[in-house]
Amino acid sequence: MTSSLGNKILGEPIDRIDGRLKVTGGATYPSDVAYPNMAYAALVGSTIGAGTIRAIDSTDALTAPGVLTVLTHENVPPLAEAPPSAFGPAPRFPLQDNRILHHGQQVAVVVAETPEQARAAARRVRVAYEETTPVLGLENPDAPFIANPYQMDDERGDVSSALATAEVVYDEKFHTSPETNNPIGLFATVARWEGERLVVHESTQWPTLARQIIAGVFSVPEQAVRVLVTYLGGAFGAGLRTWPHTILTVLAARLLDRPVRLVLTRPQMFTAIGHRPESVHRIRLAATRDGQLVAIDHEGTSPAGAEEFNVDPLTMGTPDAYACPNLSTHDRLVRLNIPNPGFMRAPGHVEGNFALESALDELAFRLGIDPLELRLRNFAAVHPGTGRPWSSNALRECYRVGAERFGWYAREPGPRSMRDGDWLVGFGMAAVGYSWGAAPCQVEISIGQDGAARVSSTATDLGTGTYTIKAQLTAELLGLDIEQVRVELGDSDLPPTPQSGGSGLAASLAGAIEDGARTLIGAFLDVLSTDEESPLRGRKAGDVTASGGRIHLRHDPSAGESYVDVLRRHGLDELTVTGSKTPDPRADGLDMTPSGAYAAQFVEVRVHHDLGLLRVHRALSVVDAGQVLNEKTARSQVMGAMVMGIGMAQLEETVFDQATGRITNGTFADYLIPVSADIPDLDVIFVGEPDRFNAVGVKGIGEVGTVGMPAAIANAVQHATGRRIRSLPITLEKLL
Ligand code: MOS
Repeated sequence: MTSSLGNKILGEPIDRIDGRLKVTGGATYPSDVAYPNMAYAALVGSTIGAGTIRAIDSTDALTAPGVLTVLTHENVPPLAEAPPSAFGPAPRFPLQDNRILHHGQQVAVVVAETPEQARAAARRVRVAYEETTPVLGLENPDAPFIANPYQMDDERGDVSSALATAEVVYDEKFHTSPETNNPIGLFATVARWEGERLVVHESTQWPTLARQIIAGVFSVPEQAVRVLVTYLGGAFGAGLRTWPHTILTVLAARLLDRPVRLVLTRPQMFTAIGHRPESVHRIRLAATRDGQLVAIDHEGTSPAGAEEFNVDPLTMGTPDAYACPNLSTHDRLVRLNIPNPGFMRAPGHVEGNFALESALDELAFRLGIDPLELRLRNFAAVHPGTGRPWSSNALRECYRVGAERFGWYAREPGPRSMRDGDWLVGFGMAAVGYSWGAAPCQVEISIGQDGAARVSSTATDLGTGTYTIKAQLTAELLGLDIEQVRVELGDSDLPPTPQSGGSGLAASLAGAIEDGARTLIGAFLDVLSTDEESPLRGRKAGDVTASGGRIHLRHDPSAGESYVDVLRRHGLDELTVTGSKTPDPRADGLDMTPSGAYAAQFVEVRVHHDLGLLRVHRALSVVDAGQVLNEKTARSQVMGAMVMGIGMAQLEETVFDQATGRITNGTFADYLIPVSADIPDLDVIFVGEPDRFNAVGVKGIGEVGTVGMPAAIANAVQHATGRRIRSLPITLEKLL
């Protein structure tokens, strides 16, 4: 799909503008930041799953070479409570008392002159515990639970009577295992106090929230805290919170009055920065014999830490998925003695989609209807909750293009009907609607006498391409070359943007940059309003457009002048404006429902007849992402998302020992993630039109590509083998 705008930069598959810096080692990640006189921290984790610390003895550790201090609950000052965030109450910060709520909870931090000395001494801190039995297991009757934790439960029509009177009823349970984000970049914090001012280099997807929480905990004004993250080695959602290790590092820097760096170890990444929680689901469907859905009931349960809150909205995608008159969704949260979970790409959605799209597929098998045909019969042409039109929805186009490209209709309908030698062959598909969250956003844009633009905001780049799309949007809208745009980001002192998460940043930024570019062109016209020499004198923003480094009349490109000429003639160094956008469909007078991104995902699997080996043989995602900002980074992002979906479907599982709460596979030797040999050729196609809800037409694209993969794979496995696997990951044992 091509750009709706004129300058042919938007949408183009431009290489990442930070690519060279990254591959040549010039990009500074939080773990690379160094200051003179910097000290190094290492963490000590609890070796029990619940109880109290009876005694903690740092004497031996303090005599170890290079050790500067050992912080424990016995010697740190009390911290203030952090302010609540959009994700509920503030996280619980450690070393505030002697209670242990999960295995691996941080019980001490050792600071030394070198990282090796800190780690060596951490092993010499002696902790005596009073152990109690940890509450573990999602179905544990001792676990406290919260009904409707996110206030998102949905109801329409009358599900009970629809289920009681339907021609066909379906009722099954699903399960997904806990998983852990394993970005290549180990999470790190470097903290440096300069009097009452604090600089924190931090692995975060949300510098403004990190600033708010750190300022709150240390009782300093937000303006006194600067959070920096110019490059980030992935995060996938783990960087959307400010975790305890960050607070401990800032605390150590304050108490020692020296800069302190902490880099989590790979095993600590399993306990310190959240994980995708385990989930169980019950799906009930009612349908007519010709496959018209008359009721959907979806109940989902996932855990949070013993005294914490986590948002993993399992049923959130279900109400909008199909045109179905009777619906109810319920989420439940159970408190367990586990490290608090957190966000992992498409949190809640991917688990919920696995349950719902598996159920739809099973219904299709039972009714003898092609699974794609069943979805087409239940397509939600308007928003099913309100009946209002979607701002855009190309899901039917996703189905059509996908079926054709994939060769879906070559599928023999019956299970175990397709074979290639010893391998059973299966085709499966799943549908995805992913509601992204655009939020209020600001940028600062300027153009200087060298004709170059600068665009600044707090937004981070997780590695997904934010630098590049910011440059592309700015160049497109101001009529510049991409080389003429300098991007500043990852700094909480810059104009605020929402988190790089929830697939919302690109759409939010697009609105703010569009507003900023329009405002900046308006500022140039203001300068020219009484300029006798200018062909643009007295012109309004609507009369002009920009290309080739010039503002010119829309209908007469020869009548215009360059940014550089205007600035020079008027003796101005630069013009700078702020662009901002708060998405609000009502304010725009649009009677529509902002739609999600959509995808149809198709998978061919092979299952070895004797050995049960499962291979994804090929996979296709057809995605409606509205206006694609960069065909290359967008495609890469969908492919990466598909890989995570394959990992979830086949390999990934964080194993909690059910007696102690210890994670038994928290290393790269034991925790399986997909490697190249697990991943076939991945095919990605974009369809659809720029979305009407957004000035540039952007929809979020970060997560949609993960969501349907587990269900598509499970559905293909059923087609290949006749076996329905309702629990992820689909391992060899489950297939034998
Ligand atoms: Mo994503 S889980 O919103 O980084």
